[in-house]
Amino acid sequence: MADGGRYRRRRHAVFEASGRDFVRKPHQPHFQSRDYNPLNGDVQRWFDPVESAVADSAILRSIFQRLTPLFSTLDGRNISGCWHSEMHQFRIEASPTEIGRPTPEGLHRDGVDWVLVLLISRENVDEGVTEIGGNDEQPLGRFMLRDPGDAVLLDDRRIRHGVTPIKVAFPAHPAHRDVLVVTWKFLTRSRQLSPPGI
Ligand SMILES: [Fe+2]
Repeated sequence: MADGGRYRRRRHAVFEASGRDFVRKPHQPHFQSRDYNPLNGDVQRWFDPVESAVADSAILRSIFQRLTPLFSTLDGRNISGCWHSEMHQFRIEASPTEIGRPTPEGLHRDGVDWVLVLLISRENVDEGVTEIGGNDEQPLGRFMLRDPGDAVLLDDRRIRHGVTPIKVAFPAHPAHRDVLVVTWKFLTRSRQLSPPGI
């Protein structure tokens, strides 16, 4: 991390999504402008690829099948519209000597249109509260993604999000918070999805 911490592990994958379909794209770097990420922005960042078993899983298929049409509908777009989608697996670790910062940049936008944050697990973790606010930095709410499957859907154009640092609950044991983040950014009105390399 640009703040010197080594508390975050992650994997990354890129997709195109249209209707209920999605196709994985060749592995590529993640890029956020410094406008959206003052801490780690304006650099191409390579992360390990999401493992095939996860990218091909029923849960990811279900996420795309349900959410891409939902976001098309909410934005008043044709259902055949095509979205650039990125998936991030995050593990934030905490130890008795180091807190873990899920969002070291603070309240932020991801620079996309829509964001899913899905809690996978919280093990031996205190705090880690999700906070949302408007583009004017006005606080709009705080809540905990506590149980596996708890999720928040964000209109990233209107809502900023952040998560407070996590702390170890019982110091003798390892502590981590795992989330799956999937983002959607509208690409084009219509495109035939084709597998990578074709
Ligand atoms: Fe974010």
